[in-house]
Amino acid sequence: MASVVHHIEHPLIQHKLTLMRRRETSTGAFRRLLQEISMLLAYEVTRDLSVTLEEIETPITTMQAPTLDGKKVVIISVLRAGDGIRDGMLAVLPSARVGHIGMARDPKTLEAHEYYFKVPREMGEREVILCDPMLATGNSAIAATARVLRTGPKRVKFVCLVAAPEGIRAFHDAHPDVPIYTPAIDERLNEKGYIVPGLGDAGDRLFGTT
Ligand code: URA
Repeated sequence: MASVVHHIEHPLIQHKLTLMRRRETSTGAFRRLLQEISMLLAYEVTRDLSVTLEEIETPITTMQAPTLDGKKVVIISVLRAGDGIRDGMLAVLPSARVGHIGMARDPKTLEAHEYYFKVPREMGEREVILCDPMLATGNSAIAATARVLRTGPKRVKFVCLVAAPEGIRAFHDAHPDVPIYTPAIDERLNEKGYIVPGLGDAGDRLFGTT
């Protein structure tokens, strides 16, 4: 399958992302905006989930009504900033299962090291939405995706908030079959591996740890 990037240019998402990027945006506002954007991203990323018809009774009559098919979707957060997207997605997918993967980035080499992994059972029958806000070098996203693919899920989609062209290239070289969903493709990475113009350190801004 060809590498796919879904660039989500919805005006509501773009406006909210602009507010998140601003230096002066508070931790509380940043968190709320990420939650709101993630609810909207959930809508985009679940567009092609399959539905089946089920007979139900309305107060008037019976009908064949669409319901989501198969095992519950799994939202997997790449710790710790992925938790911000996870929470927004859960607001619209309240029954989704949740997994976590801890990837630490070595500040010198920018290599990613896994320190935690926990996902639901029966991954082979589930679709995965893997969340990490900043696709920078791509190292942690690539490693997290490889780890998730080893559990044999039906399908994986990668969702971020801001992507660097370098990260997209590296990610798709490693995982050409995993589509990326992102509202923003920024200019480049700087020498420290931060996205330019970006929004700074997503985890620090989300949790107020600067
Ligand atoms: N991680 C972040 O939080 N921000 C960046 O710009 C790059 C990686």
